Amino acid sequence: MAKYLPFPPIDLLDRKWPSRTITQAPIWCSVDLRDGNQALINPMGPAKKLDMFRLLLRIGFKEIEVGFPAASETDFAFVRELIDENLIPDDVTIQVLVQARKSLIERTFEAIHGAKSAIVHLYNSTSTLQRRVVFNASKAEIIQLAVDGATWIHDLAKLEPPGSIRFQYSPESFTGTEIDYAVEICEAVCDVWQPTATNKSIINLPSTVELATPNVYADQIELFCRNFSYRDATWISLHTHNDRGTGIAASELGLMAGAERVEGTLFGNGERTGNLDIVTMALNMTTQGIESGLDFSNLKEIRRIAEFCTELKVHERMPYAGDLVFTAFSGSHQDAIKKGFAAMKETGQERFEVPYLTIDPADIGRQYDPVIRVNSQSGKGGVAFLIESELGFQLPRRLQIAFSQIIQKITDATGREMPSKEIAAKFLETYIRPPDTLTYHSHLPLECENDEQERYRFSVTYKEHKAEVEGQGSGPLDAFVHAITEAFGIACDIQDYHEHAMEAGSDSMAAAYILIRAPDGKELFGVGQHKSITKASLLGLVAAINRSLQ
Ligand code: KIV
Ligand code: ZN
Repeated sequence: MAKYLPFPPIDLLDRKWPSRTITQAPIWCSVDLRDGNQALINPMGPAKKLDMFRLLLRIGFKEIEVGFPAASETDFAFVRELIDENLIPDDVTIQVLVQARKSLIERTFEAIHGAKSAIVHLYNSTSTLQRRVVFNASKAEIIQLAVDGATWIHDLAKLEPPGSIRFQYSPESFTGTEIDYAVEICEAVCDVWQPTATNKSIINLPSTVELATPNVYADQIELFCRNFSYRDATWISLHTHNDRGTGIAASELGLMAGAERVEGTLFGNGERTGNLDIVTMALNMTTQGIESGLDFSNLKEIRRIAEFCTELKVHERMPYAGDLVFTAFSGSHQDAIKKGFAAMKETGQERFEVPYLTIDPADIGRQYDPVIRVNSQSGKGGVAFLIESELGFQLPRRLQIAFSQIIQKITDATGREMPSKEIAAKFLETYIRPPDTLTYHSHLPLECENDEQERYRFSVTYKEHKAEVEGQGSGPLDAFVHAITEAFGIACDIQDYHEHAMEAGSDSMAAAYILIRAPDGKELFGVGQHKSITKASLLGLVAAINRSLQ
């Protein structure tokens, strides 16, 4: 007998979900304080629970499973605190989990007494495997258990203010349950609760254990919805776990298959491989132009609080939230990202279209500048992007190549990533402030007999001696080269010249990039920065000359 067997396909040849798309957000229910909490190495204490509850409110959850009060004294006390201290906003419903046992249900009602709006969530396991090995019970006995639980809940709810209690039932381990049996047990529960289109109950169909590919879960949801006679009187809810690593995909396909509500946790914390990660699912919707109804604009802070409460770290590659997800190491990626941002800036286009990025990092409180980090795999685009974002210089292409070669040498030698601040410092020290043999102070235009030429007097320091030198040429740069060649014997040829304003406004700084060829044939860039473009150019020229004199 084989140790593992393929999951049998669902008999649903005319399935409709594959051609549907998600067009609106589901009702979100956070189970961080219950499913997430029960799976922690150190479950949250009262203070952390309150921190988490407040965080969930800030994000915008309107349904929050706050605990399993009959199973835990901490949960009981926490639910009481929320109610007694009036900490639950009027538009928020708390949810509590309970098994189908009379004493536990009574205790649960004690916990929620006085809540303005609460969902009592009943569950029992229904899978073929659990019926056989855990309960050793028949289908009818398991249905009776659920019906008894539903009845006790129904009776106790009558004692609470009308409309304050809603009902939820989960056939736990639904994915391992025959669909016709899942329908039968959910209908038996609904026969007790008698939900209507205006007073709906919730039927939560959990992928307690993810047993198959997500399309199979979608088939199960679609088949259930088609056959379930209380479909219009219930919200169909999903609750996926992540055993195969496809918990998010399963919930997404489950929505396409007809569900309207989703349970999950922040960053997918939960039993074993975790629950559905609501952050990712909601932000996936954002990237499709769907309003998720949840606010992740400060994802860093959300992550910080979640990590504090759960004592678990969010992985570096976790979608949207991980440290590395807006970082491109490959040069071609960096170049494309830089061009994407530049194109958006230039055209003022609103729609986010940047290669390799599905979301604008700024929309979730992250920044452009750490988008690109530089290591030995990086190319000129990434280095140029960092210099522009750190210092405001828009390097001409040849300078991008020259500088990225310098950086590559360093990263090859160190074998590590080079932080943007170090790259910026290297740029300044190489092109703007190289060791100075020659220093430019000022210049003065002089009368020139030749109309085609300009003549200048320059105040400079050469080898620590201040001097006034004069030269004539087609412009100030040419005149400067002639002046220092004549005075100090320094020769060079200007090969290329670029300039740009660094900020908007009449007062802005200008940047000038000068490429010279030294007598030994070496081509060297220098960069100058000044309010006057002429001075910026002269400073750039002097920087290049100083590099040639090194
Ligand atoms: O995973 C699960 O099935 C559960 C139920 C209690 C809904 O957490
Ligand atoms: Zn669960």
